Amino acid sequence: MRHICFVSLFPEYFEAAMGCSIMGRAVARGVLDYSVVQIRDFSLDRHRRVDDAPYGGGAGLVMKPEPMVAAIESARSRCQGGRVVLMTPQGAVFSQQHARRLSRETEALILVCGHYEGVDERVSGYVDEEMTIGDYVLTGGELAALVVGDAVCRLWPGVLGNEASAVEESFSEGWLEYPQYTRPACFRGEAVPSVLLGGHHGEVARWRRCQSIERTRERRPELFEQLLPTLSLQERVWTGLEPAPPKVRRRHGNHGVSSSDGQKTPDREK
Ligand code: ADE
Repeated sequence: MRHICFVSLFPEYFEAAMGCSIMGRAVARGVLDYSVVQIRDFSLDRHRRVDDAPYGGGAGLVMKPEPMVAAIESARSRCQGGRVVLMTPQGAVFSQQHARRLSRETEALILVCGHYEGVDERVSGYVDEEMTIGDYVLTGGELAALVVGDAVCRLWPGVLGNEASAVEESFSEGWLEYPQYTRPACFRGEAVPSVLLGGHHGEVARWRRCQSIERTRERRPELFEQLLPTLSLQERVWTGLEPAPPKVRRRHGNHGVSSSDGQKTPDREK
């Protein structure tokens, strides 16, 4: 069973989020387990303080290194190892690639949440990596840890009820997802694209692929530029990025025409 451990001053965040929806069901089914280490339990102070004024002056408080490092060490021993990620706006920007890597490389994920004006720099030496969920500042690392935890956990075997959905989704190959529709076929005058109602699997697959590519081009041009070299000639033709190669006439049969990249075009497209 895979384990996720949150190191935080606010365990309430995790009990709420991990107890419901898909995570809650995965925990109930026994495929996922989570724990929370309360940093305050490792305070050396009789007032249970975990923060102090910054050396050099300035506003706000900084999280002290002793309780944080002791809490991280406790989490590491509880998880018998595991990858330790400190949530901080100074970290690497979290992406689906990080989620995939973390889901593969670790049986236990330990997410450490900072608070106040930041964490004493010396804590960095006790974590494996530092991550941010985006270029904005939250009041603490808890929401960021939940985002990372959710994105990683859902890739662990058995966490999602339907494993296929983890593969066929936005970002699994880098492209944005194609548009999805369900009943009714017409909603307030807006009809579902007819190709989805035709029952022709090949045409549906081709339409979806083109939609993914076009949507990425429109909405995420920087991602599109990055992925452009991965498109096949056929896909570039489908999406109008490349002119259609001249069609080769066949003398016999009527079973489809080979295009110049060797792919068959369905008869109905001739
Ligand atoms: N802590 C505060 N802001 C954060 C962010 N954007 N990502 C990760 N941790 C944070």
